[in-house]
Amino acid sequence: MTIRAVVTGVGHYLPDRVVENAEFEKTLETTDDWIRSRSGIERRHFAAEGQTTSDLATRAARAALADAGITADSVDALIVATSTADLTFPSAATMVQAELGMTTGFAFDVQAVCAGFIYALANANALIVSGQAKRILVIGAETFSRIMDWTDRGTCVLFGDGAGALVLEAVEGAGTKADRGILSTDLHSDGRFRDILYVDGGVSKQNTGFLRMQGKEVFRHAVEKLASTATTAMEKAGITSEEIDWVVPHQANIRIISGTAKKLGLPMERVVVTVQDHGNTSAASIPLALSVGKARGQIKSGDLVVTEAIGGGLAWGSVVLRW
Ligand code: UT7
Repeated sequence: MTIRAVVTGVGHYLPDRVVENAEFEKTLETTDDWIRSRSGIERRHFAAEGQTTSDLATRAARAALADAGITADSVDALIVATSTADLTFPSAATMVQAELGMTTGFAFDVQAVCAGFIYALANANALIVSGQAKRILVIGAETFSRIMDWTDRGTCVLFGDGAGALVLEAVEGAGTKADRGILSTDLHSDGRFRDILYVDGGVSKQNTGFLRMQGKEVFRHAVEKLASTATTAMEKAGITSEEIDWVVPHQANIRIISGTAKKLGLPMERVVVTVQDHGNTSAASIPLALSVGKARGQIKSGDLVVTEAIGGGLAWGSVVLRW
């Protein structure tokens, strides 16, 4: 008997305020055409004043619970992947737990920046296959608008706010690649590259800070590392790229998304792309894309999905699952 972590619910939430590329033309030396052609981004959502990461996470969680047809009190673990928690502590996860009225189980945050949701999925999978939890809410939620330097055109046009959530449940499988659920995970980090994407503040520095990025350098690592981790995850699951129905990549840049798909030998028709509407929402981007991909009718039950992400650290990884 093999226990699998199977997706039984998905949902997302995007703040109401939509900012089109053209709005940045008013305050920065930039153009809609530059942003579109260099990143694929056309618009992004920004949280309202006072709206926090746990607010977005709670709304996404409620949508995922409704999709699964379950209530929060039947969930025994809750993980939030975020780099923009409301407070230094407690975790955003405990805030969401309270908002949902979940008084049992345990909740914690995972911080691996844009790879955070992949890390959270790997943690959730480990808890489920080891028998420590049966039903887990895994949420990716961010308010990167709070750490933007609005005078830095090289970063502030790229990021957005949002949240996505999955319900994962322990289900008995046959132990083969035909099982539904998470089939493999693959995680990496290399702190030698911590200076190419970081926030120049934090608790022990006693200021919040702003996101700083050497975009070209991050780009240089991205395609190669993403294709490599996705290939490893597929090998671990015993599958080839021809068997993959959908690639659900971290949505940072359409050129990274298409470059990675090409390296994996997968056509863009099999890639879920949301970067044009969401921008880069860091740890929220993959669950947002999974939720939108399902709502569009792209991802269906039984489909083989590979997800991959890279971000600050550098931290990167991939998860293969059958939806
Ligand atoms: O999610 C975590 C991972 N993050 C990423 O994956 C981001 C990875 N990097 C990227 O997506 C791309 O590197 C960017 C979209 C950030 C930039 O694209 P690029 O093709 O690498 O452009 P670049 O950095 O080489 O910049 C080219 C030029 C520069 O001008 P000069 O030095 O050639 O005169 C920049 O100053 O474009 C300029 N530039 C802009 N121009 C207009 C930078 N930002 C802007 C802007 N509008 N917003």
